[in-house]
Amino acid sequence: MLAAWWFRLCLQVNQGPFGSELSLTLQVQKHLEPFRLSLEKLQDVSARLRKDMIRGLGKHSHHRASVKMLPTFVRATPDGTEKGDFLALDLGGTNFRVLHVRVLEEEQRVLKMDSQICAIPQDIMLGTGEKLFDHIAACLAEFLDSQKLRGQTLPLGFTFSFPCEQKEIDKSILIRWTKGFNCSGVEGEDVVNLLKEAIHRRGDYDISSVAMVNDTVGTMMSCGYRDQSCEIGMIIGTGTNACYMEEMKNVKRVEGEDGRMCINTEWGGFGDDGCLKDVLTEFDEEVDKTSINPGVHTFEKMISGMYLGEIVRLVLLKLTEEKLLFRGCPSEALLTPGSFETRFISEIEEPDSGLENAKKILTKLDLDWDLVDACVARLVCDTVSSRSARLCAAALATIVNRIRINRGLDHLKTTVGVDGTVYRKHPNFSDELQAAVRLLAPKCDVTFLISEDGSGKGAAMVTAVAQRVWACWASPDDLFHCRVTL
Ligand code: BGC
Repeated sequence: MLAAWWFRLCLQVNQGPFGSELSLTLQVQKHLEPFRLSLEKLQDVSARLRKDMIRGLGKHSHHRASVKMLPTFVRATPDGTEKGDFLALDLGGTNFRVLHVRVLEEEQRVLKMDSQICAIPQDIMLGTGEKLFDHIAACLAEFLDSQKLRGQTLPLGFTFSFPCEQKEIDKSILIRWTKGFNCSGVEGEDVVNLLKEAIHRRGDYDISSVAMVNDTVGTMMSCGYRDQSCEIGMIIGTGTNACYMEEMKNVKRVEGEDGRMCINTEWGGFGDDGCLKDVLTEFDEEVDKTSINPGVHTFEKMISGMYLGEIVRLVLLKLTEEKLLFRGCPSEALLTPGSFETRFISEIEEPDSGLENAKKILTKLDLDWDLVDACVARLVCDTVSSRSARLCAAALATIVNRIRINRGLDHLKTTVGVDGTVYRKHPNFSDELQAAVRLLAPKCDVTFLISEDGSGKGAAMVTAVAQRVWACWASPDDLFHCRVTL
């Protein structure tokens, strides 16, 4: 399909794909071939992920699993009776945010009362944990003042979008940093404690209970409020991940056999044991090697917004070195890591304005381009983003197929709550992902629901559900306080 598109483009720009253009086409295609994953390959990837998910859930196999399958202690999705006022923190996506959220029972609505974005400077992202949490506590204090909320001790939902071993809903040990964060002294520590300590160090305000939430869970919960068949949450943004409702009897590390629990898969770590070697390209290996966390989150590095632009840059550079682009002359900008932003991919792939956008972006990168170069750049973007969408589809298909089989159903109808800049902003990502899921999970009818601020409202929702459940059960031990066996 892409080859046909390329052929058409060559004709459009009056460069018949014959003679030198034909050879150029073939050579460019040769470099892009490793990104093209057939349906059989995707089925194979899905089968490998299925095995890894089972390993992650197992009591004795968990410690060697690269897909961590973390229990979240969320055992109920919203039922519409939740209510109250909450604070929410959202750390780990594009921005750090503080929010005040009200959940109204009567109107079944979640209102975001107000929110504030606080920048986290690079030196804090890579500094000490104490500095990071002091910064978070300071942002929260500023927000409480601006909202005249100081003095009220509201419950807080903390969307912390990193892999955490959750012992209880309010005890969450960071396994490792991902994306651009690498603060010292936090891995292996309880994030709730670090936040509370920072607030105590200030001593000028307090918070009541804290519920820890992964962004996938917030997304599932915020969509679950609108559509009660939503039992999967998926993020394709700076990072990628998904959670889903798993049968308790399969969650071997948590006591209890009845009902379901939301599992944070942490599928970004898929491949960290080397099982995706045959899928990785030389460009993926380079991205990994030069990242701040080599060997960590292999699958995420092929898919998410933090890395896609850099993969495209490396491919463009390679094609330039091979004299297939820009007359063989790279610019300083093209040689600079991080210069090709992921949002450029979406802009270049816009159906109407894409080629014009490509020209502007190549000019901005100081490249000496012609029309064929702009077309090749577009082809590279399309190839890299398609692979991302198809890999995500393989992973999501693994989850929906698992839910169907878990429940002994011939046919499953389910809803996925989705969020993330790549999914939202890329012009054909969602179509491509959905088409591939239909092929890979033919017995599942999957509806995709874009979450409205899952990280903010979803955190409030998890806190609200926790409070509802806490209030209903004589002893909270029954629902949220089961122990994880390590
Ligand atoms: C983190 C996940 C998170 C995902 C999306 C990944 O890097 O490990 O916990 O859900 O990014 O934000």
